[in-house]
Amino acid sequence: MIPGGEEAEVKAQKLPVYKKRKCQICCGVAVLLLLALAVVIVVLSQTLFKFRDPGLSIISLKLESISVSVDPFTLSATLNISLATDLGVSNPNHYDFKYSNSTAVLFYHGLQIGDVALGAGEIRAEKTVALAAVVTVDALKIVEESPDVVSDLESTIVPLNVTSTIPGHVNLAGIFKHHVVATLDCNVEVWINNQTLKDYECTHHVKL
Ligand SMILES: *[C@@H]1O[C@H](CO)[C@@H](O)[C@H](O)[C@H]1NC(C)=O
Ligand SMILES: *[C@@H]1O[C@H](CO)[C@@H](O)[C@H](O)[C@H]1NC(C)=O
Ligand SMILES: *[C@@H]1O[C@H](CO)[C@@H](O)[C@H](O)[C@H]1NC(C)=O
Ligand SMILES: *[C@@H]1O[C@H](CO)[C@@H](O)[C@H](O)[C@H]1NC(C)=O
Repeated sequence: MIPGGEEAEVKAQKLPVYKKRKCQICCGVAVLLLLALAVVIVVLSQTLFKFRDPGLSIISLKLESISVSVDPFTLSATLNISLATDLGVSNPNHYDFKYSNSTAVLFYHGLQIGDVALGAGEIRAEKTVALAAVVTVDALKIVEESPDVVSDLESTIVPLNVTSTIPGHVNLAGIFKHHVVATLDCNVEVWINNQTLKDYECTHHVKL
């Protein structure tokens, strides 16, 4: 038994009518305030704090070096490539965006030939950061791909794909939470005879 509990009960029964009404008004006001707060949270989450997808683009892509040689006896090809890229990651939100485990992976005819870790970091509200990545492949032997290598050397154009993946999240006071994976796929074409970048085109996806 709580000391004074009985007394409190007695007092409650003796509450004058106007005090009871005051209590009801208080309760009503509290409920209204809670409702208003809920509405404010919903409205904010749909407007100011509405999650906008991070942007991912290529600031620059440069071929530092490339060489392919085919051994006519073993029909194996040796590939050396160094490709440097600057990725622009923008955060259009009104809050910080954290990313981690970002990577850039280089493919040649669907074969993964190199990768580089871009690390982790944080992008402040409405800011863009540049992530630098240099993918280097040294003396890679490609045996099964040799027919492709020979035809690439004949046409003098080597096609490459670079895929950059940036997984990230936002967490605002545990209320506004989002996980996204931003991906940039670039198809790159290189003139092998004069080791120059012919062209590249990139597409950008965001997965929730
Ligand atoms: C990043 O990758 C490492 C190992 O690959 C893993 O242990 C870690 O949980 C990953 N972190 C995130 C945030 O995914
Ligand atoms: C590739 O690079 C290695 C060492 O970096 C070098 O020894 C080799 O000659 C290069 N191959 C070609 C085809 O340039
Ligand atoms: C690589 O790029 C070529 C065009 O350059 C495209 O046809 C091919 O589907 C791409 N491959 C991958 C694995 O993205
Ligand atoms: C490289 O060679 C291609 C043709 O094989 C040519 O069209 C292109 O202009 C050359 N680029 C440079 C920078 O010499």
